[in-house]
Amino acid sequence: MKTHHQTPIITIDGPSGAGKGTLAFRLAKQYGFELLDSGALYRIVGLMAHQAGLLDKPDEDKLAELTSTLNLSFRINNNSQSVDIYIDEQPLLADIRNETVGGYASVVATFAKVRTALLQLQRNIAINKTGLVADGRDMGTVVFANAAAKIYLTADSQARAKRRYEQLINAGKPADYQAILADIIARDDRDENRAIAPSRPADDALVIDSSSLTADEVFHQAWQFCQQQGIV
Ligand code: DC
Repeated sequence: MKTHHQTPIITIDGPSGAGKGTLAFRLAKQYGFELLDSGALYRIVGLMAHQAGLLDKPDEDKLAELTSTLNLSFRINNNSQSVDIYIDEQPLLADIRNETVGGYASVVATFAKVRTALLQLQRNIAINKTGLVADGRDMGTVVFANAAAKIYLTADSQARAKRRYEQLINAGKPADYQAILADIIARDDRDENRAIAPSRPADDALVIDSSSLTADEVFHQAWQFCQQQGIV
C-alpha cells in the first residue's frame, strides 16, 4: 500500500487569519491535489467537547476518548469549492468557523492525547492520493514532517484582525475589531506557547509574511517555492 511518504504533500502552517485556507485551496487547484483543513478537525472536537460539557473542567482522557470515537469523513463540494465534513455519514451543519469554536479548538488542541488521537486520522488522509495540501499548525513539524514543500504563512495580528473584521462586515454580520484582535492575540499565545506541537515554522519551511501582500502575491511566492522543491 502507498504510504503518505510517496504522496506529494505541501504543508501550510501559521496563525489563524493569515490566509492559509485561501492559499491551500489555490495550490490544491493548481496541482489537482486534495485538501486537509486540520483546523476543522480541532474545531469539531472543540465543539463536541463543549456540547458534552467537557470544557468547563477539561479531562484529557475523556477528551481523547471523544476524539478517537469520532467517525469523520470528507467530501469535495464542487459548488462551494470546499470540502464538506460528515460525522457518522451525516453532513455537519453547525457553524464551526466562528471565533467561539476557534477558542474551543485551541483549548482541546493543548492536550497530547487529543493530538495523538488525530494524528493517524490525518496521516491516513494522505494515503493513495495524487497529492495533498494540508494546512494547520503542526503539519510541517509533526504530522507530515517529510512533506515535499513546507510553507509557514504569517501576518501581524492587526492585519489578521482587520481581514476578519472586514469578512464579517461584508457578510452582514456584527463585528467588533478590538474584540477580534484580543481573541487573535489570546489564541496565538495558546497555540505558540503550548508544550506539545506548538505553532512554529519547520526548519525547512519558506516563511511568508502576508501582512502587506495580496492573495495573488502570496500564491505566486508559494507556487514558485513548490516548483523549486520539485512539485511540478
Ligand atoms: O486553523 P484554525 O483556526 O481553524 O484552527 C483552530 C484551532 O485548532 C487553532 O487555534 C489551534 C488548533 N489547531 C492545532 O492545534 N493544530 C492544527 N494542525 C490545526 C489547528
